[in-house]
Amino acid sequence: MNKLISFLFLSLFSTTFVLINSEDPYLFYTWNVNYATQSPLGVSQKVITINGQFPGPRINCTSNNNIVVNVFNNLDEPLLFTWNGIQQRKNSWLDGTLGTNCPIPPGVNYTYKFQVKDQIGSYYYYPTTALHRAAGGYGPITIHSRELIPVPFDWPQEEYIVLVGDWYTKGHDTLKKFLDSGRTLGRPDGLIINGKHGNGDGTDEPMFTMIPGKTYRYRICNVGLKNSINFRIQEHSLKLVEVEGSHTVQNLYDSLDVHLGQCLSVLVTADKTPKDYFFVASTRFTKKALTSTATIRYVGGKGPASPALPEPPAGWAWSLNQFRSFRWNLTASAARPNPQGSYHYGKINITRTIKIVNSANTVDGKLRYAINGVSHVDPETPLKLAEYFGVSDKVFKYDIIKDDPTAEASDKVVVAPNVINGTFRNFVEIIFENHEKSVQSWHLDGYSFFPVAIEPGTWTPDKRKKYNLIDAVSRHTIQVYPKCWAAIMTTLDNAGMWNLRSVLIERQYLGQQLYVSVLSPERSLRDEYNIPETLPLCGIVKSMARPTPYS
Ligand SMILES: *[C@@H]1O[C@H](CO)[C@@H](O)[C@H](O)[C@H]1NC(C)=O
Ligand SMILES: *[C@@H]1O[C@H](CO)[C@@H](O)[C@H](O)[C@H]1NC(C)=O
Ligand SMILES: *[C@@H]1O[C@H](CO)[C@@H](O)[C@H](O)[C@H]1NC(C)=O
Ligand SMILES: *[C@@H]1O[C@H](CO)[C@@H](O)[C@H](O)[C@H]1NC(C)=O
Ligand SMILES: *[C@@H]1O[C@H](CO)[C@@H](O)[C@H](O)[C@H]1NC(C)=O
Repeated sequence: MNKLISFLFLSLFSTTFVLINSEDPYLFYTWNVNYATQSPLGVSQKVITINGQFPGPRINCTSNNNIVVNVFNNLDEPLLFTWNGIQQRKNSWLDGTLGTNCPIPPGVNYTYKFQVKDQIGSYYYYPTTALHRAAGGYGPITIHSRELIPVPFDWPQEEYIVLVGDWYTKGHDTLKKFLDSGRTLGRPDGLIINGKHGNGDGTDEPMFTMIPGKTYRYRICNVGLKNSINFRIQEHSLKLVEVEGSHTVQNLYDSLDVHLGQCLSVLVTADKTPKDYFFVASTRFTKKALTSTATIRYVGGKGPASPALPEPPAGWAWSLNQFRSFRWNLTASAARPNPQGSYHYGKINITRTIKIVNSANTVDGKLRYAINGVSHVDPETPLKLAEYFGVSDKVFKYDIIKDDPTAEASDKVVVAPNVINGTFRNFVEIIFENHEKSVQSWHLDGYSFFPVAIEPGTWTPDKRKKYNLIDAVSRHTIQVYPKCWAAIMTTLDNAGMWNLRSVLIERQYLGQQLYVSVLSPERSLRDEYNIPETLPLCGIVKSMARPTPYS
């Protein structure tokens, strides 16, 4: 087939095609988002599919590609997608959270356009509206390196995507009703891998195949709602090579913990007796572990996988030690995830320290989750739009929480939009202090950060002596173990309105999130792109005249 014909063929028969022109290449996707009836755990329920698929289609791209996703919302509810971990430099306009965007109304389509930068690694997208994430709607994003930038390992025989997460058999609307009425969701019903539950009895079709002697990259994300997971492959060791867009020192592990919202890549070589093996995932820190398997088949191999599944590790101290073993490979020549080159982050002076303390409370008899005494609610007018149109004072107040909440002894919880005024280009330290008995997971949009420490107890400034100021792995989501604290550092050099959220779905939905407003005083195109002309407006800015564009 010559090139023209194959181009036409692709355009006609695929919803994805590549158009190369003098600028950076464009990748076009058309997504039809629908409900479908499926049974991921053997119980028939409503799931959210994209082009009929659950999990949704993969966005497979190369750094600097322009991604254009035309989303048709065929659900009966408003919808938004976020691109978890994609930095959206200068472009919080379509970060896809309710604080940045008006949701896409039912029956309407909207086109997301963004460029992926040098964040070579593994990510996923998911719906942020209502409890849609509990019905699926998620899918993988993989960013490859341009040919000029080598990655620190050989091109694998193949790449496998492994989206693992806990799952409820109750529909997302029922779950939402639980939370709206003030009760919790309780325990998830099971664990699924790429939308399927494996029984570990050898009756499932293989999900992955490996040719003896070859090496494969498995990209694993915890797309779940409530639980950390551990994964392992019978008899095989896992070579960690990437964590959320950073190439790591390539240590070997028997099993790895992946906390909510996190992604990583391992290389696995098919160097064992040719037969079937189980990929095993199970929940961590739960009274009774939920487990699921996927079968890996050696090509030409003979024999079923052993029914003896390797046990998960116990306790969180093991997990903390594993966290400490993750190191950034400083000599890998791949691009840095932080374009400002702040990888000498240990030498930058901290300009602001913000301590985040999570709590579970009741307000008017209903369960709420808070940060420093404030439980966030999304106003009808997205915060970013209110700020841009100059009417923020009608929608929210900046800085209603204190940077150091322990100075304020109070367990009163206020329900209000929670917005921090972050100063453009400040180098900030954020401390997550978890006084609760459950493990937390925190995600920041718009940035990669350096998680410099996780330690038991409470944080004090002299704990900075324990920080890893050399080779912490730059990433976007960090776990905080029970009664522990975690410290992260980042430069607020990406202008926009950025969501900091608990990845635990109940907590995020019931207020454990906030926004960091990072305003460039110049209102210049150098610092922030213009608001897209087609961006839907809602709330009080719906029919307001648009401000003068940046120049
Ligand atoms: C993903 O993109 C890379 C880089 O363009 C390409 O080499 C690879 O074949 C693609 N994989 C799939 C499954 O499309
Ligand atoms: C909706 O989809 C059509 C193509 O079917 C496209 O021309 C239009 O630009 C899309 N609208 C938005 C707001 O993205
Ligand atoms: C780091 O990356 C370099 C360059 O690709 C590679 O040669 C080296 O083996 C890696 N180091 C470790 C400890 O993984
Ligand atoms: C950081 O702070 C120290 C002590 O206040 C000061 O001496 C140093 O010049 C500062 N470094 C930078 C890069 O601003
Ligand atoms: C936000 O912080 C900047 C710089 O610190 C300050 O100039 C500005 O007045 C603050 N804005 C609000 C609304 O507090």
